[in-house]
Amino acid sequence: MNDNSLQPRLRQRGRASVDFLAHVFHGATQVRQGVQEQLNTRFGEGASLPDDLDERHEAVAGALSEEPGYRVQQAIGEWHSRQHGLIAINAFEELKPRITERLAQYDEGPSRLTAEKDFKPPDYFEGVEIHRTRGGWDGHPCMGFIHGEIVHRLIVDATYPGGIFTQRRMVAGLAPKESYGRILEMGCSTGHFTRALAETYPNAEIVGVDVSIRTLEHALRAGNSCGYSWQLYLRAAENTGFEAESFDLVTSYILLHEMPASAIRACFAEAYRVLAPGGDLLMSDVARYAHLNKIQEWQADQLARFGGEPFWRESASLDLVAALKDAGFEEAEGRALGNQGYPYPYVITARKPA
Ligand SMILES: C[S@@+](CC[C@H](N)C(=O)[O-])C[C@H]1O[C@@H](n2cnc3c(N)ncnc32)[C@H](O)[C@@H]1O
Repeated sequence: MNDNSLQPRLRQRGRASVDFLAHVFHGATQVRQGVQEQLNTRFGEGASLPDDLDERHEAVAGALSEEPGYRVQQAIGEWHSRQHGLIAINAFEELKPRITERLAQYDEGPSRLTAEKDFKPPDYFEGVEIHRTRGGWDGHPCMGFIHGEIVHRLIVDATYPGGIFTQRRMVAGLAPKESYGRILEMGCSTGHFTRALAETYPNAEIVGVDVSIRTLEHALRAGNSCGYSWQLYLRAAENTGFEAESFDLVTSYILLHEMPASAIRACFAEAYRVLAPGGDLLMSDVARYAHLNKIQEWQADQLARFGGEPFWRESASLDLVAALKDAGFEEAEGRALGNQGYPYPYVITARKPA
């Protein structure tokens, strides 16, 4: 089992650019605090601001547009979200001659990837360049490595309160039972949460689905590099094609904010269908807008705009617990696990009646 074999050791230019991104984020902390103070002074918790979020964006921009701190914050937010994908791709290109063989060595192993040729991604992805990255999840032949190992491991983790890998492990441990026979992970992407599941439930058979072939190719390598026997499928969460009642736990980590509300409901219905009676659901996602005051909601929505997240608002506005009950689940619960006082991550659990 080789834990670190896929972790990138960037060349100098790539490393400098990636570090620069993280430093810009941390260096702007005081700017963000300054804007926060201005917002507090002008709007308190935002009760006087419009209910409509688009109008609220306009009202805040109108009030702060002449403030240097706000302008710097906007410029950094825009620059960061436009540049991170490009910087990660360039860092990969510089590394490519040294890493291609190492990656290919993990194409074979105990994990399996099944991709039917006629697979079509859900209609709502049509024309969407998710995360403002050209071509979205599949925009580069090695987007799995770029997204999983460079963006998530070196950029997101460095700027995520508490660390995103630590959070994945924490969330994986929140399922109600101590062990599971068969686990389905929806939106498994490059396999980071899959690995947290494998470490938490070492005896479970783990199946992952995702709509992005590039990220799944990397999950395959990640599974093989650790000696795991994951079964990975290019399939949509809302239509997995698996046998009814064939899983004991259905789970996801930061999948739901990538989907419109109708797809989330379809995904819960699919989870219900494939769970055995008495089976559990555990999913973790972004803060619910209903738990935020108007200023925090504006901030979350602004991040979603910068980040090229077309369904975040719709998803964060959906009452997930009510949607789970509508799908037939019992004991449906949502918990906002505060991170530095902020109601994130939001973790839902539910059970299919026995
Ligand atoms: C933010 S990523 C996160 C994932 C991963 N669980 C992790 O911990 O890194 C979301 C993933 O969900 C996938 N996705 C989006 N919509 C999906 C759908 N309808 N069915 C399955 N996967 C989906 C995307 O392709 C992407 O790989």
